[in-house]
Amino acid sequence: MDFNEVINSRRTARVFTDENVTNEQIEKILQSACIAPSAKNRQPWKFYVLNDEQKNHIMNMLFEWDKLNPKERTSVKGTAEQIKTANKMIMIYSDSYKSKAKNENYKKPDYISLGCAIENMSLQAVNLGLGSCILCDTLYIEDEIDNYLGINDYEQICGFIVGYPIYNYSTKIKKDFADLLLN
Ligand SMILES: Cc1cc2nc3c(=O)[nH]c(=O)nc-3n(C[C@H](O)[C@H](O)[C@H](O)COP(=O)(O)O)c2cc1C
Repeated sequence: MDFNEVINSRRTARVFTDENVTNEQIEKILQSACIAPSAKNRQPWKFYVLNDEQKNHIMNMLFEWDKLNPKERTSVKGTAEQIKTANKMIMIYSDSYKSKAKNENYKKPDYISLGCAIENMSLQAVNLGLGSCILCDTLYIEDEIDNYLGINDYEQICGFIVGYPIYNYSTKIKKDFADLLLN
């Protein structure tokens, strides 16, 4: 796929077909993450590829959280619905969790590095004919997820779902370019 076509057609996908995403496709997506730029080349990313049972368990935990917190008015229920049809889900972690405590200056650069890696994942998904969605709503139940997966030493950044989108999502309205320039 042409580079501009990949970048211009990337849209968050929210409903997916039941077509299988292969391990090779997941590997390509993760390899694209790993070649992203990172501050001081620290490459702070870690990935946990969930199996179906784990994906469904996390989805149910999000539905449960939403039921128990009806007044919060979040997008957690919608996010859980999206996980339901997604073929694969990956949890993304940062390994700068410990060094961060030593040096606060690492914090922002490492988050930016992770953002670069996650965008590479989103673009590679498009290149492979797939759709994806970045999920920060998992952070509402960050500790529950990490306890369930047995993750102690890494900081949860977000979830990432991927699958074959059920329709072609049209381009979202984006801010006017002229309004973004500060000078
Ligand atoms: C850091 C980040 C966190 C996000 N978290 C969620 C989420 O928890 N649930 C969700 O449905 N979408 C989530 N999204 C997707 C955004 O809603 C989506 O990117 C935005 O509406 C713009 O649409 P587009 O990606 O199609 O351009 C997230 C996106 C980013 C970049």
